[in-house]
Amino acid sequence: MLRTHVLNSGYGKLRVLFNVEFSAEPGRIAVVVGPNGAGKTTLLNSITGLATIHSGKVFYGGIDITGLPPHRVARLGISYVPQMGNVFADLTVEENLRVAGYLLPESKLRDRVELVYSMFPVLKEFRHRRAGTLSGGERRMLAIGMALVKEPTTMLLDEVTTDLAPIYVKKVLEKVIELRDSLKLTVVLVEQHALRALQIADKAYLLVSGTVRYEGDPQELLRHPEFSKLYLGIS
Ligand SMILES: Nc1ncnc2c1ncn2[C@@H]1O[C@H](COP(=O)(O)OP(=O)(O)O)[C@@H](O)[C@H]1O
Ligand SMILES: [Mg+2]
Repeated sequence: MLRTHVLNSGYGKLRVLFNVEFSAEPGRIAVVVGPNGAGKTTLLNSITGLATIHSGKVFYGGIDITGLPPHRVARLGISYVPQMGNVFADLTVEENLRVAGYLLPESKLRDRVELVYSMFPVLKEFRHRRAGTLSGGERRMLAIGMALVKEPTTMLLDEVTTDLAPIYVKKVLEKVIELRDSLKLTVVLVEQHALRALQIADKAYLLVSGTVRYEGDPQELLRHPEFSKLYLGIS
C-alpha cells in the first residue's frame, strides 16, 4: 500500500499540501480530482521525491520512503507519468521505450517493450516514427508505455487524458483499467476530467487548496456538495 501520513509539503518554503492523509490500495485505482492549483501534482511530486516535505510521512509497502530521491523511489516500483507526458520528441517510439528501460538487462528490456506493444498496438505500428510526429493521444500512450517498461508495481498518472479528444480519453482510461485488471498494478490517477475518471475509480479523493475534502466511494463523491459546486456549477 502507498500511503501518506499527515503530509505537509510544497516547494522550498512554499506550503502546498496540508495534513494530507492519502492511501492507494494494491491492485486498485485511486482517483484524485480537484481544481487547478489544488495540489494534485504536488501530491505525486511528494511521493516521488520531487517536492519538499515539511513534515509527515510517505510509506510504500510498509517502508518509509519520505524524502527519498526520485531514482530510489522508481527502483522501489513506483513509476511516474508526469503531467506533460515527457517523451523525447526527436527519438523514435522504440528509442523512447528503450531509454525508459535503460536500467534493465537487454533480454528483460525486450520483453517489456513487447509487453507495451501488445498493450498499445499503435505504438508497435509507429515504432520507427519520431515521437514528435505522434498525435496527442498517441504521445500519452507512449508516456504510459515508458512508465510501464520500468516494471512498476504502482503507476502514478498525472492528467493523462487532459486536452485529448473524447475518443482518446476513453481509450486511455480503458488502458488504465487494463493496468489494474491485466497487470495487477496499483494506480493513482490524477484527473481534470473528473466525471469520467470517477467512473473507473475504486476510491476517490477530492483535493481543494491542499487539503483532502473527501475520501471514499467515487459515486458518493458525485453527490458531495463541494464537488457539485466545483464541477457542475451547482451551489
Ligand atoms: N515547481 C514549483 N515550484 C513552486 N511552486 C509550485 C511548483 N509547482 C506547483 N507550484 C504551486 O503549487 C500549487 C499547487 O500546484 P499543483 O500541485 O501543480 O496543483 P494541481 O496539480 O492540482 O493543478 C500552485 O499554487 C502552484 O503554483
Ligand atoms: Mg497538476
